[in-house]
Amino acid sequence: MSINKNLFSNKRRFRTLFSNKRNSKNLFSKKRDTKKVGLLVVAVLLFLCVLCIGGVVFKHTRPVVTIKVQDNSIYQYEEIPDIEVKASTGKKNQKIVLNKKENYLVKDLLKDLNHGNGYKLKHNIDNASVGTYTVELELSKELKKKVSYSWWNKINVQLESGTVEVKESKVDPTKPMIALTFDDGPGKYTDQLLDILEKCDARATFFMLGENVSKYPDAVKRMKELGCEIGNHTTNHKKLTELAEKDIAPQIEGTNTALQEIIEEDASVVRPPYGAVNGVVKKNVAYPLVMWSVDTLDWQKKDAKKITDYVMGNVKDGDIVLMHDIHEFSVEAAKTIIPKLVEQGYQLVTVSEMAQAHGIEMVNGEKYFSF
Ligand code: NI
Repeated sequence: MSINKNLFSNKRRFRTLFSNKRNSKNLFSKKRDTKKVGLLVVAVLLFLCVLCIGGVVFKHTRPVVTIKVQDNSIYQYEEIPDIEVKASTGKKNQKIVLNKKENYLVKDLLKDLNHGNGYKLKHNIDNASVGTYTVELELSKELKKKVSYSWWNKINVQLESGTVEVKESKVDPTKPMIALTFDDGPGKYTDQLLDILEKCDARATFFMLGENVSKYPDAVKRMKELGCEIGNHTTNHKKLTELAEKDIAPQIEGTNTALQEIIEEDASVVRPPYGAVNGVVKKNVAYPLVMWSVDTLDWQKKDAKKITDYVMGNVKDGDIVLMHDIHEFSVEAAKTIIPKLVEQGYQLVTVSEMAQAHGIEMVNGEKYFSF
């Protein structure tokens, strides 16, 4: 009995052993499953990797369309400029068809972007604080969708941000200022006038005649370098109110053409000869019309001291002073007037600087006497 019992117990032991074997078999098959799963995971990962690398490589081989925010700089308190965005790509990429149905090519996309469509600009420019501000570009929701889904395999769009630099203002709007203006030049004394302006760190506005601009190109270049304002006083000093309507605009264009040849820019303000303005002139001259509040009558006085005394006795903050740099006595007077005004605490600024510092936005065809 006891032997049997033992046998039985042996049997049980054997069964246990067997069941252990089964367990080890189970263990073994579990191991195989894990291996399978592992292999599968590795395969999937590999596949994803290939996709990824493929995607990256493909991304870099796709034609690139660059959309770049253009850099700008302004002086403190100046209006924030219209910030331009330039979209570009290689010449042959322009023919890529983005939408077959609408026959919309990359070329059309560039045109739309360059016309200001399809994006938004993000910035926090504070024109009162000096600094460099970043301007970010954000595509419109619609365009973003097209770029990431419909056109993802056609083009690779790269966005590049730009900057706006706010430079320290040359003008303190809280301090008094005067705009000296010189008409009918440039002439042979203009350079001496520029010397004294440069020495005193002062600026003036020159209302020039087209016929004289071409005679003194170096003086015009120097005006620009010194930060003086370039004004237009017509081509040959005709009274605009007495001209046929069709002859008015060419009088302004003549001077601008002469200026373009020298400094590659047009005048920014116009002073009509004799201050003669009527409705027809206003309609045909697309510029602010700058008059004056202090007429020195220098051409009549013909005396540097008399001119100096008149200016010093009559100017105040915001005045626009009229003089002529074609006369020696006027330039001699300016040599005294400029340092004296600076000494009295006046900032000698251009017409546009003064308008801006006093918060006035000049409008084309409007007359301005002082700011
Ligand atoms: Ni004149």
